[in-house]
Amino acid sequence: MEPFAEILKESKIFANRDALSPHYLPDNLLFRDKQISSIVKALTPSLKGERGRNLFVYGKTGTGKTSCVKFVMEKLRVMPEIRAKISYINCRIYNSRYRVLSKIMSDHLPIYAKRGYGIVDLYERLISWIEEDGKVLVVIIDEIDIVKDLDDLIYTLTRANSDIKAGGITIVGISNKISFKEDLDPRSISTLYENEIVFPPYNSLELAAILKQRVEIGFKPGIIEQSMLNLIAAITAKESGDARLSLKILSKAGELAEEEGRKEISQKDVETAVKSAEEEVAYDLISTLPEHQKLVIYAISLLTMQGSRYRKLTEGEENYLFSGEVYDKYVAVSNSMSKEPKSSRWYRKYISDLEMQGLINTYESGKGMRGHTKLIKLMYSPQKIKATVEKNLFRESEAEGKTGKEGNAGKEGNAGE
Ligand SMILES: Nc1ncnc2c1ncn2[C@@H]1O[C@H](COP(=O)(O)OP(=O)(O)O)[C@@H](O)[C@H]1O
Ligand SMILES: [Mg+2]
Repeated sequence: MEPFAEILKESKIFANRDALSPHYLPDNLLFRDKQISSIVKALTPSLKGERGRNLFVYGKTGTGKTSCVKFVMEKLRVMPEIRAKISYINCRIYNSRYRVLSKIMSDHLPIYAKRGYGIVDLYERLISWIEEDGKVLVVIIDEIDIVKDLDDLIYTLTRANSDIKAGGITIVGISNKISFKEDLDPRSISTLYENEIVFPPYNSLELAAILKQRVEIGFKPGIIEQSMLNLIAAITAKESGDARLSLKILSKAGELAEEEGRKEISQKDVETAVKSAEEEVAYDLISTLPEHQKLVIYAISLLTMQGSRYRKLTEGEENYLFSGEVYDKYVAVSNSMSKEPKSSRWYRKYISDLEMQGLINTYESGKGMRGHTKLIKLMYSPQKIKATVEKNLFRESEAEGKTGKEGNAGKEGNAGE
């Protein structure tokens, strides 16, 4: 029985571990009444069986977008007067037009769960299914910026609407990234943005209340003091206002106390949890980067491990890399993976995107150091960044049915020097 004793032992800390998982949906979402009623209002025509306007939901990570939209969906599901059909699609899993269309079809017609239908089959079947009885389909596309061929997807759904004789499709797009808009076709933008709802970041009082709500469901009584919740809330608010990060810190702190068999979460637990939760968020972010940004951050991690070629020039700041050497490395890495490298104009845009995401830090060198040049510093462990990108690139090329040889790109990338 010895090895199984652990399982049966009751937790000293957690009352309901589930309540701290990122997928848990609380019964009551705090501070979001306004956003929830805007979502309901925007969807009302569709829910009554008319084709409503499309909706775009935007806000930084952890501002409650997914939770609010799911909350509305759950409420609607149990209302018998709702005529619309609803599909929720998470683009981390369904990241192409084909996958999104298959997911919509298999949600409503289980026979389409099988693979192997062509895109034209799916499209025609979708149209005839909607026309059968003039349905309205609401498609919620979460983290829509990850869809590789987004213009094609939007085009297909818009086209479907004009082909459909009775009924129609309403699109609800959700995104954490505002800058992805720049890469979209203007027609896609005007389709997506018929209606827009913005989710602001939470302030520290709001985060503290969200944490308190979760502590009451997830933890046993008396495990954590209010001052610790305020500390977590203040740190997270200063950084990003991301409720997911707050909750991750809380749950990690709980695990640390649990591992040591304590009945209370200490300040040290919180501090340790802050560090590891922030790292996890950064590594998680990498999986949502577009391919070439992944390649750039990969080049940066390789160079950081190797050390800058110009180390002597940047004395006292040896972790900084020169923008030019990073670009060369990026080109070498892309070539070794048989990907066409983008021009340096694109590269500069990637660098500023990566900085916006907090993965790197940059500054302009003063005069004297080979003129003006941009210096770049990786904000996280290069080993971990490298491993994360490799895992990601691997997974994607497998999904596309290519061989996974790219994993060695790091080594080959060096050959260019
Ligand atoms: N207003 C809120 N009240 C309670 N919990 C919230 C609230 N907003 C966000 N959360 C929690 O924070 C986490 C992140 O929210 P999520 O909806 O996934 O954010 P987003 O989709 O904007 O990234 C989830 O675990 C969610 O339960
Ligand atoms: Mg989300």
